Amino acid sequence: MTGPADAEPTAKPVERATALICDSGHSFDIARQGYVNLLTGPGTRFIPDTWEMVAARDGFLTAGHYLPLAEQLADTVLDGLENDQLVVDAGTGTGYYLRQLHRAADNTTVAVSSIGLDISKYALRRAARANPDTVNLVWDVWQPLPIAAATAAAVVVVFAPRNPAEFARILQPDGKLVVVTPLPGHLAEIAEVTGMLGIQGDKQIGLQASLSGFFSAGAASDLEYTLELTRDDVARAALMGPAGHHLVPAQLQDRVAALDERTVATARFQISTFRPLRLPFQTPAIQSAS
Ligand SMILES: C[S@@+](CC[C@H](N)C(=O)[O-])C[C@H]1O[C@@H](n2cnc3c(N)ncnc32)[C@H](O)[C@@H]1O
Repeated sequence: MTGPADAEPTAKPVERATALICDSGHSFDIARQGYVNLLTGPGTRFIPDTWEMVAARDGFLTAGHYLPLAEQLADTVLDGLENDQLVVDAGTGTGYYLRQLHRAADNTTVAVSSIGLDISKYALRRAARANPDTVNLVWDVWQPLPIAAATAAAVVVVFAPRNPAEFARILQPDGKLVVVTPLPGHLAEIAEVTGMLGIQGDKQIGLQASLSGFFSAGAASDLEYTLELTRDDVARAALMGPAGHHLVPAQLQDRVAALDERTVATARFQISTFRPLRLPFQTPAIQSAS
């Protein structure tokens, strides 16, 4: 583990597990909730998910609405993994997908080590509860990642920001990047009432283009299924996304009150796999978010 200012990261938790100490001797306390905040420098310009957004996401996910996605994602990530390899979940949120991954791994002979990264401490508090054996780090994925080069067998990104240069640096040469994105029409039935933005058709092309200098595209699979949502589910779906930053919960409750008791909506996802190109990574790369 390295401090944010260090150039050559190597993961090294101390044995008593009350702190992480980097090679330069910087110490980062493990919060009593089980995560470690490495963002000790000047604040980042990214706005972390709020407590309300994280609570909405937790409620929606634990209701099981995205379980088919989590299971298919776990199969994709575990496919070809060897014992005790590292999986990094960038933008892990409440840790839901990592939890399902570990559950799926428990049914195989493959044990998985994992690191969850997220900029929101509210998300990581829940992630640390869900995945006590995962190293959960508050970190900005647009910064050089505090993970040694060529150590991860898989990097997973579910609806979260992507730093292609850094993902490629931390992946083993035969590792994989697995990205989940919503497809056009995802939850379209509730887009209007929740004020959620529609998914652009060119998003998949944008994904490939954004990774093209660092990754080659591998297999991709689409997943589509029907959800039955209560009014609370619809409100949570709205609050847990980017629109959650500016939605007023009370106004949202008024809008969903007009809905039937159950709303049928269609979930549409794509799970895309990418392989790192062979590039010389001498130093961690920083890429701006713009
Ligand atoms: C839409 S949520 C997805 C969370 C999780 N992957 C899931 O699907 O349940 C996006 C997540 O990315 C995190 N995030 C946003 N910007 C980030 C950044 N610059 N660095 C790290 N995490 C970030 C947010 O805090 C949030 O938890």
